[in-house]
Amino acid sequence: MTPPPARIQLRPVELADLPALYTHQADPEAIRMAVVNPRDPDAFDRHWRTVLTNPEVHARAIIADGVLVGSVNAFKLEGRDTVGYWIAREHWNRGIATRALALLLQEVPVRPLHATAARTNTASIRVLERCGFRITGHTLSPRCDRYPECETTHLVLDPQHRAE
Ligand SMILES: CC(C)(COP(=O)(O)OP(=O)(O)OC[C@H]1O[C@@H](n2cnc3c(N)ncnc32)[C@H](O)[C@@H]1OP(=O)(O)O)[C@@H](O)C(=O)NCCC(=O)NCCS
Repeated sequence: MTPPPARIQLRPVELADLPALYTHQADPEAIRMAVVNPRDPDAFDRHWRTVLTNPEVHARAIIADGVLVGSVNAFKLEGRDTVGYWIAREHWNRGIATRALALLLQEVPVRPLHATAARTNTASIRVLERCGFRITGHTLSPRCDRYPECETTHLVLDPQHRAE
């Protein structure tokens, strides 16, 4: 296993990051893990150009020892402040998502914060729990453009939680 990076930094996502972020989200194993339908290149480009001009989205590139390894984001979903993240497969299991989400939680003070993950995505649920989120329940989410039908775990970071 590759050792954990010495340094993790967040910075705003830039247009120049999009080709690498596209490659990360197109990885078949990551798609299976996250239980999403991948975006094709045009849809991905449209989505991110909208994201980058939306002042309500906090989109951060994750830089591990100088290398772009993924993104971590806070955004409104159905009126709720929500977080999400994606790490390039070659960098999985190095503690990056946990550290990147912890950094985002220092930058974004809004609480409560919500998150969802496929119930089978134990790695993602573990990332969230390590950062202080707690499971509030599970629902069956119907199939839609973005997701296949799947059992979804809902988590929240409570107002009283303080970043460590
Ligand atoms: C889920 C994901 C973000 C985890 O990122 P990561 O940087 O590998 O996570 P970390 O290294 O911080 O590991 C967090 C925990 O998950 C565990 N973990 C990592 N990969 C795992 C895997 N494939 N299966 C089970 N557990 C795993 C780690 O052991 C760690 O647990 P620990 O704290 O008990 O040691 C990453 O696998 C990913 O981007 N997957 C595809 C996209 C995705 O699922 N996004 C989230 C959608 S909700």
